[in-house]
Amino acid sequence: MDHFLYRDGALYAEDVPVAEIAAAVGTPFYLYSTATLLRHYRLFDEALDGVDHLVCYAMKAASNQAILTTLARAGAGMDVVSQGEYLRAKAAGVPGDKIVFSGVGKTEEEITCALEGGIRQFNVESEPEMAVISRVASRLGKVAPITIRVNPDVDAKTHAKIATGKSENKFGIPIARAREVYALAASLPGLQVVGIDVHIGSQLTELEPFGLAYKKVAELTGQLRADGHDIRRLDLGGGLGIPYTRSNEAPPLPVEYGALIKDTLGHLGCEIEIEPGRLIAGNAGIMVSKVIYVKSGEGRDFLILDGAMNDLIRPAMYDAHHDIIPVAEPAPGVEQAAYDIVGPVCESGDTFAKGRMMPPLAAGDLVAFRSAGAYGAVMSSEYNSRLMIPEVLVKDDQFAVIRPRPSFDDMINRDSIPGWL
Ligand code: LLP
Repeated sequence: MDHFLYRDGALYAEDVPVAEIAAAVGTPFYLYSTATLLRHYRLFDEALDGVDHLVCYAMKAASNQAILTTLARAGAGMDVVSQGEYLRAKAAGVPGDKIVFSGVGKTEEEITCALEGGIRQFNVESEPEMAVISRVASRLGKVAPITIRVNPDVDAKTHAKIATGKSENKFGIPIARAREVYALAASLPGLQVVGIDVHIGSQLTELEPFGLAYKKVAELTGQLRADGHDIRRLDLGGGLGIPYTRSNEAPPLPVEYGALIKDTLGHLGCEIEIEPGRLIAGNAGIMVSKVIYVKSGEGRDFLILDGAMNDLIRPAMYDAHHDIIPVAEPAPGVEQAAYDIVGPVCESGDTFAKGRMMPPLAAGDLVAFRSAGAYGAVMSSEYNSRLMIPEVLVKDDQFAVIRPRPSFDDMINRDSIPGWL
């Protein structure tokens, strides 16, 4: 459930008409709902009721400071994958002991920054990385809490570009080698093993792969404890999928996911961490765009929008489906026609949808891309020297620009001409 609904023939974000925001900030822009963000965070928090837990929002999904602050004030921890994300989390008021650091390529500089600023744990992905964390921690006279990310060799049954838990993926340490690598961790100075980490992929629409992975983690917990390691924390990653279409998709709910976690791991007495990103932000955001032209082609018609692949790359990159709806509610029973919905960028990949059935639209009409809150704005670029689009946050009947549209001068003047040119 989200808070982008038609009311009196117009699309609203909570209590604000989307067209009113478009008139104030121009198009295209991203628009987020505070109520939806908080609702989704709380669903996870409540799903783990009764177990000691922390929901660490995977801020790679949407990392605007206003979004982070909203979630941090509700009690969320953060899952970060770079120094930039770490510093964003800190700037949003998240204490170091609620920040987990994931990612396969943490640099010495990033590790130093997190150790100096405070960190709940590093999720270690390789032996060379473990050696660097040990060295940096020893140099700083600190002890780095770590988990080791294990790769359980489970098929997440999701898009190949976002599956991470098969042995051919670059992530984690093969679970079969885990005991050996934990023994190494115990022998190195400056490290304190606190638990196990696993993350098998994103946009999972079934619980089964989670169940398979978590059972392997439960078994490993027993083995590692028998080896003398203090396994007290399990980081289970993110990945729970969201419905991208209104009609036929019903991925498992956070409460069902929580029940699975309790079933498979509840008996171990561990603190549970989860790292959801998409489910918190995805359906809490839309991208609003305007029709520039309706163009008749050979056997097909095009809706050419002012938003493009540089603003929302998911359709081009993952063949992702986003529902696209008119901001003015179509009259009931109005005849629909098929359109290819495209942006102005100079490549055919700049196509949001092919043969999409849409009600009649004309130049100047507004449309909204649903489910664009996660991996939308954060993956945007200035390709074709198109300005980064603004982000707007709604709360009840108020809205605020939380990242302004830069000016063309801002964009041009970021570059510099060498003196010798
Ligand atoms: N934890 C780790 C270690 C991750 O790598 C990810 C996502 C998450 C948590 C959050 O997963 P989520 O709950 O959002 O599924 N750009 C792609 C998605 C990439 C996901 C990368 N890792 C897309 O637009 O579909």
